[in-house]
Amino acid sequence: MELIEAIQNRKSIRGYKPVPVQKQILNNILQVAIRAPSGVNTQPWNFTVVAGEALEEIKFGNIKRFESGESPHPDIPLESFTGIYKERQVDIAIQLFQLLGIAREDKEKRNDWMKKGGRFFDAPAAIIISVDKSLGSERVMLAIGAVAQTIALTALNYDLGTCIQDQGILYPEVVRKVTGIPESQRIAICLSIGYPDWDFPANKLESSREPVENCTTWCGI
Ligand SMILES: Cc1cc2nc3c(=O)[nH]c(=O)nc-3n(C[C@H](O)[C@H](O)[C@H](O)COP(=O)(O)O)c2cc1C
Repeated sequence: MELIEAIQNRKSIRGYKPVPVQKQILNNILQVAIRAPSGVNTQPWNFTVVAGEALEEIKFGNIKRFESGESPHPDIPLESFTGIYKERQVDIAIQLFQLLGIAREDKEKRNDWMKKGGRFFDAPAAIIISVDKSLGSERVMLAIGAVAQTIALTALNYDLGTCIQDQGILYPEVVRKVTGIPESQRIAICLSIGYPDWDFPANKLESSREPVENCTTWCGI
């Protein structure tokens, strides 16, 4: 697949076919993705690839905590947005819920959707990225973003879809218990990964972008 075509085709996938992804393919993706850049080549990423019974256990633990009303407490706290950023957050949620046929006041269906996020959108596999706490939490995330996007792009080469997501790691103790990720590492982000179910309404979402001219300053050119 052409590079630019891949970048333009990538989108967050929130519905997957119940088809396992071969370990060899997941390994190939990571072998490519580790070519991502990082500050002074620190390569701060640790990958934990989860599937099968282990993933089911995490999904179950996430749902249990969500249903018990426990507040999410990811290792990297969630931010709340204001102004234009809040508007964009609301816009994408409106589009998504319209596609899913979920009304604003339908709390039950909204909760069901939250639970689907906690179930990694029912993907057959997930890649959890964790980072040694000694590396700090802010600058290192530039490299984590680079490797996450590289995974998402490389996955397309194997007809796989991904969703970079916080929702699977909102209860880090659940993930730690199943995977053994130590307390000395922050669980930074995860990706659900699998073969997209293109009939699933949420996968029809086309997220918009602010035009380049609105977010670019040209100097000396
Ligand atoms: C750091 C990060 C966290 C995200 N967390 C979630 C999440 O928890 N749930 C979700 O549905 N999408 C999540 N996304 C996906 C974004 O919603 C998505 O990238 C954005 O709406 C643009 O859509 P696109 O990826 O289809 O282009 C996350 C993306 C990033 C980069």
